[in-house]
Amino acid sequence: MEKLYEGKSKICYSTKNENELKIFFKNDVTAFNSLKKASYESKGLLTAKISNIIFKYLEKNGVKTHTIKVLDEQNVLVKKLKMFPLEIIIRNVAAGSIVKRLGIEQGTAFDKPIFEICYKNDTYGDPLINDDHCVVLNLATVKQLEEIKKVTLKINQLLIELFKQINIKVVDFKIELGLDKDNNICLGDEISPDTCRFWDQNNRKLDKDCFREDLDDITAIYLIILEKLESLNI
Ligand code: ADP
Ligand code: TMP
Ligand code: ASP
Repeated sequence: MEKLYEGKSKICYSTKNENELKIFFKNDVTAFNSLKKASYESKGLLTAKISNIIFKYLEKNGVKTHTIKVLDEQNVLVKKLKMFPLEIIIRNVAAGSIVKRLGIEQGTAFDKPIFEICYKNDTYGDPLINDDHCVVLNLATVKQLEEIKKVTLKINQLLIELFKQINIKVVDFKIELGLDKDNNICLGDEISPDTCRFWDQNNRKLDKDCFREDLDDITAIYLIILEKLESLNI
């Protein structure tokens, strides 16, 4: 299998089928556009397992995802998607960049989810853009944006319900979507504590902020999330 792309936390390999990819979850973790880097044994296994459980749950609840088959603890066979060069973010509670950008107090719960679009481009630091940028710059059509927003809000609702069962708040998250060979919008990439903010009842951070802010050993924290999700037997 040929390595097609190595990103910050995953590697994509070609397979015998041109419409499929194998994705390997690395042990590397980065933050602040790779200014901070580390590697932890078992980190890739933890994000892969967590993401696989979440994708299985979403698929069961009517969300189209890229997953074809979990191959082993760190490798997943997926549909090769034509990815939108976008990072779609939902915020239920203020944290991270919105706190710095708009001066909102961390922990402020929003009356309705805030939907944000960023242009996925590390050179420019994944800048925040709006619908017009997407359409005029041919990143997505008006119709695709409508569907992206609809599916993202559905994923948010499903994630909130899932994590409520284990007493965890979904503060915010980032997803990436793409088109399959039949032009259906599908959820790609991953959903894990690397790409979300999760807080427990005491607002203890159970996600990559533990690495960003040097709060905790992320493998111990991610294991808490994995064990709680596994207890739900999805
Ligand atoms: P990054 O590119 O941000 O460093 P990763 O290390 O997570 O990220 O690399 C995974 C890459 O694979 C990302 O660029 C992501 O957009 C892409 N990707 C994820 N799922 C799919 C898919 N099903 N088909 C094609 N590309 C995908
Ligand atoms: P932010 O507050 O830093 O903008 O992040 C919002 C959400 O998106 C948060 O859950 C972390 C996630 N995220 C990623 O998954 N990848 C990224 O590159 C960034 C900047 C954020
Ligand atoms: N994913 C980005 C990076 O790897 C930023 C972050 O998640 O904080 O640098």
